[in-house]
Amino acid sequence: MKVDATAVLVNYFADAHHLVDVNARQPAAAMVEEIVLQWLVELFGLPRSTGMGFVTGGQMANTTCIAAARQAVLARVGWDVAAKGLSSAPRVAVIVSDETHVTVYGALRLLGLGDSSAVAVGCDGEGRILADALRDELRNNAGAPTIVCAQVGNVNTGSFDPLASIAQLVREHENGWLHVDGAFGLWAAASPRYRQHLAGLDGADSWATDAHKWLNVPYDSGLAFVRDRAAHRAAMARTAAYLQRSSTDRDNYEWTPEFSRRARGFAVYAALCSLGRAGIAELVERCCDHARLFAELLTAAPGVRVVNEVVLNQVLVRFERPRGNPRGQRRLDPRSHRARAARGDLLALWHRVARPRTDAHLGVQLEHHDGGCPALGRGDPLRAPARMSSRLDRARLQPTSRIS
Ligand SMILES: Cc1ncc(COP(=O)(O)O)c(C=O)c1O
Repeated sequence: MKVDATAVLVNYFADAHHLVDVNARQPAAAMVEEIVLQWLVELFGLPRSTGMGFVTGGQMANTTCIAAARQAVLARVGWDVAAKGLSSAPRVAVIVSDETHVTVYGALRLLGLGDSSAVAVGCDGEGRILADALRDELRNNAGAPTIVCAQVGNVNTGSFDPLASIAQLVREHENGWLHVDGAFGLWAAASPRYRQHLAGLDGADSWATDAHKWLNVPYDSGLAFVRDRAAHRAAMARTAAYLQRSSTDRDNYEWTPEFSRRARGFAVYAALCSLGRAGIAELVERCCDHARLFAELLTAAPGVRVVNEVVLNQVLVRFERPRGNPRGQRRLDPRSHRARAARGDLLALWHRVARPRTDAHLGVQLEHHDGGCPALGRGDPLRAPARMSSRLDRARLQPTSRIS
């Protein structure tokens, strides 16, 4: 996978200037994060109130979101988990699916809930959670603080959980929270062609994604979005006398499990500027077109079978042994790609490759504005959401030189 050249360069400059995320020292980093938040909330169609933390990847995005979820559902039953911990806390039910990504379990471990707090409900053959099974499990946990983890973009099949039905069920539960793992699939919301698969997305409470997947920025770039900013901050914010807090602006460390960290927002900002709204949609659609073409060509090849519905960018292929093979052919449940993957005769082709860029941008400018910081000024006009919107439409840096 090629990374976005603009993002690489901006990342390099951010590192070279030792830009970090502490607002009092370097407000540019905080301001860039705030701008990226506004752009992405708009691009993905998330609620306006949503806050965001820049983390290392999908693992920590899931962890941050589920930490906020744990904080909120326990607060509703009078328990402040940030202050009191979990040892005498009311039980938190976690409902996942058979196809939930392993990093959600990683998050449950880190958050002291543990693997066994999660009940996995069944999925259909494409790995989509069965809404009826979820309904039953929610009933089993009536009244209990409950976190439901859905996903958009199954890592094997690319499928989407039926979010509209799931969100409705979680809303009907007395104390529920819906988290959506959209490590790569959330970017489909940027495409008019694929957005329909994410109907109901704005009915969730938190969303995890990676900028180092579809947006192609360098690794170390996860994004944790949480609708309830108070719960997000309650789970993550901590301060100390030596830290100068900003009374008006974002302090980036209040939204993430990390404290000191690189100024991750610059690379994402650069990629969004470089691609613009249309460029991101085009990137998603081009990858999906390639995936469909892959599937078509592979289907025509002898002994090759595409075993998933190619709804996004994932093509799951089976290479079948010829009949009469001395080792024989075992019959497998044709719906279970997991069983086949376990036998090792499946190949998941992750097709997220961007169009090779011969005209990759080399010269990058962050615009200069008047005010407190050199890269983006305090009174930055970009901060007004209406202007942001049109800026995202227009955004596409002009190439100032070329690399081959
Ligand atoms: C659905 C899903 N969730 C989480 C992750 C983990 O992301 P990361 O490797 O950035 O931690 C992945 C990785 O592919 C994924 O596909």
